[in-house]
Amino acid sequence: YLIGIDVGTSATKTVLFDEKGSVIAFESKEYPLYQPKNGWAEQNPEDWKDATLETLKKVIRISGVKAERIKGIGLSGQMHGLVMLDKNGEVIRPSIIWCDQRTGAEVEDLNRIIGRERLIEITANPALTGWTAAKILWIKKNEPDNYKKCKHILLPKDYIRYVLTGEFATEVSDASGMQLLDVPNRCWSDEVLQKLNIDKALLGKVYESYEITGYILPQVAEITGLTKETAVVGGGGDNAAAAVGTGIVRDGTAFTTIGTSGVVYAHSSKLTIDPKGRVHTCCSAVPGAWHVMGVTQAAGLSLKWFKDNFCQDYIWEAEKQGMGIYDLLDKYVTDTKIGGDKLIYLPYLMGERTPHLDPNCRGVFFGLSAIHTKPDMIRSIMEGVSFSLNDCNHILQEMGIYVEEMMACGGGGKSSVWRQMLADMYQCRVKTVKQEEGPALGAAILAGVGTGMFESVEKACDLLIEEDKSNILIKENAEKYEQLYEIYKKLYLDLKDTFK
Ligand code: XUL
Repeated sequence: YLIGIDVGTSATKTVLFDEKGSVIAFESKEYPLYQPKNGWAEQNPEDWKDATLETLKKVIRISGVKAERIKGIGLSGQMHGLVMLDKNGEVIRPSIIWCDQRTGAEVEDLNRIIGRERLIEITANPALTGWTAAKILWIKKNEPDNYKKCKHILLPKDYIRYVLTGEFATEVSDASGMQLLDVPNRCWSDEVLQKLNIDKALLGKVYESYEITGYILPQVAEITGLTKETAVVGGGGDNAAAAVGTGIVRDGTAFTTIGTSGVVYAHSSKLTIDPKGRVHTCCSAVPGAWHVMGVTQAAGLSLKWFKDNFCQDYIWEAEKQGMGIYDLLDKYVTDTKIGGDKLIYLPYLMGERTPHLDPNCRGVFFGLSAIHTKPDMIRSIMEGVSFSLNDCNHILQEMGIYVEEMMACGGGGKSSVWRQMLADMYQCRVKTVKQEEGPALGAAILAGVGTGMFESVEKACDLLIEEDKSNILIKENAEKYEQLYEIYKKLYLDLKDTFK
């Protein structure tokens, strides 16, 4: 047996799999996202820790599986978040997470200190507000006392690794998103660290994603029911782990995930960089490979925001009917028309990365009329997020990365309505895999490779991942979306200066 733990933005999901990749037990626990200021986003690492220990304990208990038979654990998690620990391993302050946009000035600092071109050469990416290096500079400048106390810098899932094993370590896919890694050579960049005056000793050891990084601590074994022989492998940033969990491990394959964020991700055996820096290039969880990805900051977050603030009636209705709230929203959207009479939503609730790299832009409903209903607004949110993902896909195509079909995953990927929008906009088949646990399954597969259960990541995917549903493009819809997409793109250009 193997376990995958995915430290997400909305919840931590812990899944126990058998060696065929079937789910034996699943547990998840939600936690809050704090927004102390407009554009800021923080979470409590202790919440991730509590959620991990609680869900681990539960899956082991529910499954009835003997702990000795659990060979390995893989970790996956939201990328870029800054966790700072003091000399006793205690958390110093809440984690500033991936979608936080406070670091506009520090991005300029990074470009000034290292040079835009040199930074791209080393880290494969331009300076980005959501990435960890800019957050570290922000802390140095704004909270020097906290920086002085800081003895360890970790990413969210790597903090969980520390909790489980006592080791300070990371792996190449997630470390790529810190902007401190030499991405072509898969190791920390001494040049970047020196120029930013960040002590290398603050960072953990970098592993490949399948490698064993440590074993369960006795006190954790006692709480959870695991044994001290259970290995914890590197794992992956949530997108790299989702790639493994959906079988996107070879050239010519790509997936779209709609979780809190939305990502269009393509595997690449060669290092490929967008010279304009609109999409990210990171190490893949497959040794010797990379990936390119475009990111929509508020994908599922847009729909969740609308549901939490304006849909209490639907929440009650869903409860009464015993159905999931998002299934109910899908049902309402099905009865509305495409583009809802030119009602267009820009999903920039937390600024936007691809294609704008703009921390200042914000969400917009354009074209509201008195005929519009709540379901029309929900449709426009789903369409607006899809347009943004379409932006990502177009940039990959500009870079020469074409795919014949797209895998869909994440919470939004479960919605056939949403998948159909993607198929109509991308103008290709959009598929799913039977296993819905993308990042957790990917992390577990990596644990299987690290503990010798599978020969390689690719072979494990061939054995385990099974295709499931498929949405094909509807020509009439595709034509309508082509027209609406032009308006969607123009809206940002028209509004760009107003956001500042
Ligand atoms: C990727 C990114 C998000 C987070 C949260 O660059 O910021 O996808 O990993 O899921």
